[in-house]
Amino acid sequence: MWQGRFSGKPDKLMQEFSQSVSFDQRLWREDILGSLAYAAELQRIGILTEKELADIHRGFKQITEEIESGKFDWKVELEDVHMNIESRLTELIGDAGKKLHTGRSRNDQVATDFKMWCKRVAKELRDAINSLCSQIAGRAEETIDVIIPAYTHLQRAMPVRMAHQLIAYGSTLHIASDQLLDLPYGSASDLPLSAGACSGNSFQVSEVHLANSLGFLHPPFNSMRSVSDRDFALDLVFLCAKYMTHLSRIAEDMILWSTAEFGFITLGDAVTTGSSIMPQKRNPDACELVRGKTGRVVGHLMSLFTLLKGLPMTYNRDLQEDKEAVFDATDQTLACLRVMALVFSKENFKVNRERIQAHLDSGAGYMEAMNVADWLVLQGVPFRDGHDITGRLVKYVEQKGMRFADLTAEDLAAVDKRLKPELLNELSLEALVERKQVYAGTAKARVLERLAELKSWLKE
Ligand code: ARG
Repeated sequence: MWQGRFSGKPDKLMQEFSQSVSFDQRLWREDILGSLAYAAELQRIGILTEKELADIHRGFKQITEEIESGKFDWKVELEDVHMNIESRLTELIGDAGKKLHTGRSRNDQVATDFKMWCKRVAKELRDAINSLCSQIAGRAEETIDVIIPAYTHLQRAMPVRMAHQLIAYGSTLHIASDQLLDLPYGSASDLPLSAGACSGNSFQVSEVHLANSLGFLHPPFNSMRSVSDRDFALDLVFLCAKYMTHLSRIAEDMILWSTAEFGFITLGDAVTTGSSIMPQKRNPDACELVRGKTGRVVGHLMSLFTLLKGLPMTYNRDLQEDKEAVFDATDQTLACLRVMALVFSKENFKVNRERIQAHLDSGAGYMEAMNVADWLVLQGVPFRDGHDITGRLVKYVEQKGMRFADLTAEDLAAVDKRLKPELLNELSLEALVERKQVYAGTAKARVLERLAELKSWLKE
């Protein structure tokens, strides 16, 4: 493509070193779309004849078939996806293929292809998040009456409905996924094509036509900015890193919940593995891998930042290194979202109700104590005093090695005279859960409302 000025060929090692076609061939669809829109402009301004434009369409049709059927011969010597496709086009249709690059540079071409690719994948990510959320919502529906301990500092804190915690996961992911919808209106809203190598296009192509036909909101604002800008990639990988961080926390909870110590759930065969030595083992590998892959995706964000840091205006070959980070970050995030949807499927997420009930019946963690403090407040005792009285009651129960459920009127009176016998009827965890009637609380009616809301978001 650029041999004119050179007498020698690149070293074999250099060829291998600098090629990107092994990974950027993933941009082929976008590359062809971009070229078709550009060719239409070249025809409109008289650089291509109608016949030549028709040839270009025909050529791309064949190339599309060749790529889709795996017959396309990708050549490392041709460096990247752009030159591979252009060279094949010229092989197929002759001179019209050679005219296609008039006024265009790979700098505006690659930025255009890559931005379109990122927008497409942003949609896939949003769909994958929605599918995961609907699995989570399904499990929430089934666990509305299952009360579990909620933890702070990983110590039993307050009883909640299992559905409440599941909705915490679903709403976290869904709310965070709204930012994917912003991408086409924000950092991926402007078309790079027509920015040329860095200073603009010498021919009278209409950047507005190009932007419209390629689904961008705006034409380029400044050609130098356009070819050097990778904010859209940073934003997308940041979102991947964020979703992975959320998934890693959810995965960690599921790993804990499926231990013998918690035993809240059993994960199905489809998302667990056995051990080669310990026949009794059921390992939560799916969740562990999701947790592990989070580091890798966060790493890609760091590599992108480091790649861009201090890079002089405008295009530099360093920018070729942006793709693998984005490809792997998005691949891994999509895979993890899909695997977590499996984890939360009806077949694989089995709730151990008796085990959970046994935990609650054991009285460990003294979660009933909050009932006492709340009840005292309703009797007119200032909360700080109620807190102190309740604290003394917990100490009493702990020292006697008993549970709140075993308390008698005499025990209460022994701790404080304000602890009346009626209190004994107020100690259930269910009652405590049902007092959380605020909008975001864990009372049944509120959880059902929020669940319905989450499900309605998924339909949007
Ligand atoms: N493969 C290159 C990349 O990914 C395409 C752009 C090359 N441009 C250039 N001037 N060498 O960035």
